[in-house]
Amino acid sequence: MSKTIHILNGPNLNLLGKRQPEIYGSDTLDDVLRTCSAVGAEFGLSVVQRQSNWEGQIVDWIHEAREQAAGIIINPAALTHTSVAVLDALNTFEGPVIEVHISQVHKREAFRHHSYVSLRADAVMAGFGIHGYALAMRHMGKLLG
Ligand code: DQA
Repeated sequence: MSKTIHILNGPNLNLLGKRQPEIYGSDTLDDVLRTCSAVGAEFGLSVVQRQSNWEGQIVDWIHEAREQAAGIIINPAALTHTSVAVLDALNTFEGPVIEVHISQVHKREAFRHHSYVSLRADAVMAGFGIHGYALAMRHMGKLLG
């Protein structure tokens, strides 16, 4: 049975491709799924991708990943900088966790420089556009494939 990676996306990322394209680019979450599935296939990994604007939904999906996923790639979006609940949930997950940010958060406002999720993440990507998800997937492949 192939191992599955869960890609979880937080608030406002449903608008990826339309939202502030000068910062986040014109690619969409469908493009993320397409490229990550292609990389996953190289390593025998399948991909499930989800997005929610609700913190509790992200927490519930992390709990679900405990049973169903070999690894988590997460772009918590604004919850990165605010959510102890998302951090606590990730701390219950035993597999690898990779944090992804499309933009280079450290070049932006000071409030984006702190990440609760980084306290748990095994690796962090920032500033690679949606290519960061594919790079994260490739690293998952090395770790798990
Ligand atoms: C983001 C960066 C966050 O600071 C922001 O709140 C987002 C997206 C990124 O992918 O660059 O919504 O996580």
